[in-house]
Amino acid sequence: MSTVEPDEKQTKDDDKSSDIFIWVDVQHKFLADTFDQLLISPDRKHISRCLYLAHKIQHACQDNSMGLLAVLQLNRNPRNQYVKELYAAVLCELIGRQIGMRPSARLLLLCAAMTQDIGMLDLQEDRLDKQATGLTEGQRRQIQKHPLNGLKILEQAGVKDSVWLSAVEQHHERLDGKGYPQALSGDQISQAARILALADIYVAMARPRGDRPALLPRDAMKKIFHSRGEHIDADLAKALISVLGTQPPGSWVRLANNEIAVVIRRSDIPAFPIVGSVISSQGEHLERAIIRDTSDRSFTMVEMVKAPFHFNLGALLCVLWAKISD
Ligand SMILES: [Fe+2]
Repeated sequence: MSTVEPDEKQTKDDDKSSDIFIWVDVQHKFLADTFDQLLISPDRKHISRCLYLAHKIQHACQDNSMGLLAVLQLNRNPRNQYVKELYAAVLCELIGRQIGMRPSARLLLLCAAMTQDIGMLDLQEDRLDKQATGLTEGQRRQIQKHPLNGLKILEQAGVKDSVWLSAVEQHHERLDGKGYPQALSGDQISQAARILALADIYVAMARPRGDRPALLPRDAMKKIFHSRGEHIDADLAKALISVLGTQPPGSWVRLANNEIAVVIRRSDIPAFPIVGSVISSQGEHLERAIIRDTSDRSFTMVEMVKAPFHFNLGALLCVLWAKISD
């Protein structure tokens, strides 16, 4: 079969399936409001909001993990400064599930992922992501201290759980002892912190920063694969690769027929995902994405590419993933 046609139900859902993009925007706003309030007055009520959001993300991952990964990978809205936290939370949930971590422990890990940089939010919001030059000495010191600052804020707000606290405190420690703030190594670093560190490393590479463009998702995974067993936990690196597949959702690819397409989801054969073409073989902007099965030789993936310019990209993409039930 050369083309995967959406069935009738899918087509009906497509008509209103911008929901997953909207869902991420709504959760992003909720997280931003939570941070604003938590920094003004650290107390338990804001911690409950983190737990509430962690529950929602956990549920959404069960419902539509491919869509969530894709939307977070594709998100380039400069107003969404906490996409990194949401993306890391989704990866933590999926890696945790992959390695058999209990749902209750995963929930706390998700909270840690969302609050990992709460100790330097002012720096992150105002400057760091947009800054094209290197770090100043003051910024460097603030970054070095942010895990311990974050720990302090969370403890003041009443967080007592060791999974959450250790992950925030240790998410920049590295297995080889070359991390910070305490240069812990090996088993001194909690499992939750290792998972969060890995998610954070991947997201940092897969998304653009002020001083450098994003790596292609597969290149980011290659780097992680080559660092496994050094500063990255080898079993967790394997789990991440299983979760994302070789071409993660939201990646852009060129097909054998020269179309440019976005990866929608894995198929039954992991190396051949289902993709949606948005630029034709002749380089024309398509009015509606065409679903392709890359196991068909006509639509084999030839290479990964950067996101294309398409005047109507948002409208084309929002129909490719099913909505999330709230
Ligand atoms: Fe951090």
